[in-house]
Amino acid sequence: MTDSSKTATLTIDGKKYELPMLSPSVGPEVIDIRKLYAEAGVFTYDPGYTSTASCDSTITYIDGDEGVLLHRGYPIDQLASKSHYLEVCYLLLYGELPTAKELEVFETTITRHTMIHEQMHNFFRGFRRDAHPMATMVGVVGAMSAFYADSADVSDPRQREIASHRMIAKMPTIAAMAYKYSIGQPFVYPRNDLDYAANFLHMCFSVPAEDFVVDPILARAMDRIFTLHADHEQNASTSTVRLASSSGANPFACVAAGIACLWGPAHGGANQACLEMLKEIGAVDRIPEFIARAKDKNDPFRLMGFGHRVYKNFDPRATVMKQSADEVLDLLGIENNPVLQVAKELEKQALEDPYFAEKKLFPNVDFYSGIILEAMGFPTSMFTPIFALSRTVGWISQWKEQFSDPAHKIGRPRQLYLGATMRSYVDVEDR
Ligand code: CMC
Repeated sequence: MTDSSKTATLTIDGKKYELPMLSPSVGPEVIDIRKLYAEAGVFTYDPGYTSTASCDSTITYIDGDEGVLLHRGYPIDQLASKSHYLEVCYLLLYGELPTAKELEVFETTITRHTMIHEQMHNFFRGFRRDAHPMATMVGVVGAMSAFYADSADVSDPRQREIASHRMIAKMPTIAAMAYKYSIGQPFVYPRNDLDYAANFLHMCFSVPAEDFVVDPILARAMDRIFTLHADHEQNASTSTVRLASSSGANPFACVAAGIACLWGPAHGGANQACLEMLKEIGAVDRIPEFIARAKDKNDPFRLMGFGHRVYKNFDPRATVMKQSADEVLDLLGIENNPVLQVAKELEKQALEDPYFAEKKLFPNVDFYSGIILEAMGFPTSMFTPIFALSRTVGWISQWKEQFSDPAHKIGRPRQLYLGATMRSYVDVEDR
């Protein structure tokens, strides 16, 4: 962050206040209002943070108008095609692509942490069988602070490092166990001879009676889904993790808070909601009816998998995800999938509709990910847990970055109070 030579002038009741401006390495300039209240006695009002930078960061950059997503400067399409998830994890966490030796050490470290404390199996068994896997994940990840108390002291950099590795390594195990528990199958232990994505498929689809042989093309598609969801700068769940951490809370509690936030249908829950919507539409000839509903101001229905707070152009992740969907369906010999037909036609009709063009509503990453996951054999309830396990590295990288910020302080938004002014208590018999 560098000070810009420019300043912004705010005039209140004829009095002028000079506000410093900050220059990013790329993107819009930022007005620094940190001293505004102290100097002018006013707050700013920005519900939903549509114009507010809550922190500075060097991890991820999005240009929503151009449809650009960069991690540490590298475009997401290059990372999705040339790199793989664990290398992207290293990049997000440490800022640079690893050398071959650094990558080997990192992969070994993550692989060696894939098992979870055996006693956590009992903790899983406390949940109802019909619990949504996200509910289980919120609880189990939060409970890691009880099982891994030796890496919960955030003032110790080494403990922070171990907690980071533990969460990246154990999240697939936890997500797979939440799934197995929900379908009444025994937990499957991780296999460290498999790579990160193949191991996750193994833990989800193997049973003690029969091993699941992981097709490398499916493992690659799974890895790409992880990579495409790895980080997305200051979105709702990441901001939740940062805010939770600002109080000094332990890392497992902070990531559990992130998972809870991600669950909502406007955020990570959209992939589940999108597939359910495609199934509800059911046939291509019903699409106009649903597009009309999405445009109707009196109908709360929205096209799930469409629109984004930041992207006002194609979501670059959706472009890669669409290619991946074609590859996976081709591999699995799924040609006349009705859901896919509805998805493709819905995309076409929505993009031709002036309503979606004017509001710059394009397909987002969730529009295609559900189709791939369903083709792989995942139930819709697992879509958001898969998003959560992929995003864990993003949450942790942002959490880690917060500790290196000297200006870091507890997050405490102000408010525009519209309630009653001071009044005297009235005894109950006098009301
Ligand atoms: N279908 C129909 N209309 C929409 C949609 C949609 N999917 N999204 C936005 N609009 C309209 C909205 O009604 C509003 O119209 P108006 O200006 O006339 O009131 C306008 O577009 C702007 O919408 P907004 O709600 O003010 O925009 P936002 O930036 O607050 O919301 C969003 C962004 C992603 C929550 C929203 O587009 C949405 O609800 N999309 C569907 C859910 C979804 O796919 N979410 C996944 C996001 S990508 C993955 C992730 O980051 O988690």
